[in-house]
Amino acid sequence: MMNESEDDRGKVAFVTGAASGIGRATALAFAREGVNVVVADISEQGNQETTRLIEEMGGQAIAVKCDVTQTESVKSALDKTIESFGRLDFAFNNAGVEQKKAATAEIEEQEWDRIVDTNLRGVFLCMKYEIPLLLKQGGGAIVNTSSGAGVIGIKSGAAYTAAKHGLIGLTKAAALDYASQNIRINAVAPGYINTSMMDRFTGGTAEGRHKVVSQEPIGRVGQPEEIANAVVWLCSDASSFVVGHALVVDGGQTV
Ligand code: NAI
Repeated sequence: MMNESEDDRGKVAFVTGAASGIGRATALAFAREGVNVVVADISEQGNQETTRLIEEMGGQAIAVKCDVTQTESVKSALDKTIESFGRLDFAFNNAGVEQKKAATAEIEEQEWDRIVDTNLRGVFLCMKYEIPLLLKQGGGAIVNTSSGAGVIGIKSGAAYTAAKHGLIGLTKAAALDYASQNIRINAVAPGYINTSMMDRFTGGTAEGRHKVVSQEPIGRVGQPEEIANAVVWLCSDASSFVVGHALVVDGGQTV
């Protein structure tokens, strides 16, 4: 954790998917460390709520509408970051969408494109415009959200599995490109985490939840804060030799 270093006070984190779930918990965790947070998501209402929660705890945040599939939207969100806080130190590229369950041959091309566009191309787009800012700054850290589906195959989830596996490859290649320039790029691969995405995945039923929990050796689903802790660590000096790693935080799901 960063709590030892006063150094991170006043640093700036850009968090996508920050209106909900893992993104919101991580935005709050950064704020707890004294980091100023850019809350970036397509959901303006969710952005406002995350920002309010940060301000309530005495932190500083701005809400910025950002669609990670759109170049202009990403660029403008990063412009606002610099306008408001004057710098960028950390980026958590976390916005993602789940796939409609379907066997591979039943996946509509449109659905394939939607999943890959947000979960893989969106992270590329964000990094494309974050990295120059970090280089200007003299360094920084990026964490991308993969998944258990980035490590093993998920039945009826070929598009999501492909995007999340691809994201780990993207993370590793990008990490090699910038390791010598003081930018560390890593990924986090969460197991089943208690968020609105998981509720949609389980259908919100007791049976659906039971099925998910039965895949977790630890006997429960994870909490968003348990991913947030890993992300904050990957951005901190405590992980200064960790480069191009996909940190699995999954209660043993993929072991
Ligand atoms: P969530 O649905 O609670 O939050 C996702 C957020 O991303 C939402 O606020 C949504 O508005 C935003 N978003 C969607 N499309 C966007 C776009 N084009 N531009 C900007 N924002 C967009 O889901 P959760 O669970 O917090 O997911 C966060 C990340 O974690 C995702 O990448 C997901 O694939 C990944 N993940 C989640 C797991 C889980 O069990 N909840 C497991 C493994 C990975």
